[in-house]
Amino acid sequence: MAASASVPSSEPHIPVLLRSLLDEVSPVSGVWLDGTLGAGGYSRALLENGAERVISVDRDPAALEMAADWAGNYGDRLQLVKGGFGNLDRFADVPLDGVTLDLGVSSMQLDDPERGFSFMADGPLDMRMGSQGPTAADLVNRLTEKELADIFFLYGEERAARRIARATVRRRAKSPITRTLELASVVQGCLPRAKCGQSHPATRAFQAIRVAVNNEYEQLVDGLEAAERALKPGGFLAVVTFHSIEDRVVKRFFRQRSGMDQRGSRHAPPQESKATRFRLKTYTPIGPDDRELATNRRSRSAKLRIGVRTCAEAGQCDRTALGLPALPRRGMGK
Ligand SMILES: C[S@@+](CC[C@H](N)C(=O)[O-])C[C@H]1O[C@@H](n2cnc3c(N)ncnc32)[C@H](O)[C@@H]1O
Repeated sequence: MAASASVPSSEPHIPVLLRSLLDEVSPVSGVWLDGTLGAGGYSRALLENGAERVISVDRDPAALEMAADWAGNYGDRLQLVKGGFGNLDRFADVPLDGVTLDLGVSSMQLDDPERGFSFMADGPLDMRMGSQGPTAADLVNRLTEKELADIFFLYGEERAARRIARATVRRRAKSPITRTLELASVVQGCLPRAKCGQSHPATRAFQAIRVAVNNEYEQLVDGLEAAERALKPGGFLAVVTFHSIEDRVVKRFFRQRSGMDQRGSRHAPPQESKATRFRLKTYTPIGPDDRELATNRRSRSAKLRIGVRTCAEAGQCDRTALGLPALPRRGMGK
């Protein structure tokens, strides 16, 4: 493309890897579905760079309210939908030319203490992207020590999972943990102080609880399968991930659906077969360049992977091969 493609700058959330995405899918045309509207950086860029229409989905009502400020500029070329991208094929009225999923939370969600996502500012321990279902406080105060340890370990890859779970249960026996900084302090008490340049000690534990509250891994796999159903042959599926578990799932999905995991040798050329639902557009993920890193710290762990839909019939993927962390079945009681 399109060095000249127009990329709107959209405070308060700076879109991540947007220029790389546009470069890879250019020339943009037809009907796209943006499964993670956020501040609308991707949706607007697609509309400004050739998409006839964009269906923009978010489970967070605040994202849709924010979009009301600029949605009028695009008339009926923009459709706003409140919902989870796990069902995204239900929101598409025609076969799609492209689907974008920019995973995780937006800066608006992270920076608003009242949403409860941040370990840096005090707020209610909520972490729900939508407005329904159990909050982070519900999980932290009601799950058993073992269930909490599983979440910290499997969803956050936190090595001190058991220690943190034990400390959480001990702390909540005195009074329920209802604030973000209360949980952050419990986690910090279990881990060494972060050295300069290291992430905050509560990063992994907060990620783990957020993933559990929002069923993020289930939504991700449902969304990848739904995109396979919704895309037309030649349509793009572009996914931006922010941590290793998400990226592993997306990488394995694309390998499986492109038939690459059936090859004997990884040096053998890819072969199209009946099972090939996607062709890989990116063999290795695209990360931020120095310029993006310098202007947007939140881009540092981002990875973009893109597949192109073939004409093979859509189907169900083998979920057991995606490296999804599987929690033992849980209740909500101590
Ligand atoms: C990283 S932000 C997207 C930012 C957006 N690309 C932009 O440029 O402004 C992620 C957004 O996706 C939403 N989201 C996360 N998981 C979702 C899901 N399963 N279904 C629908 N929306 C989801 C979040 O509420 C958040 O608004």
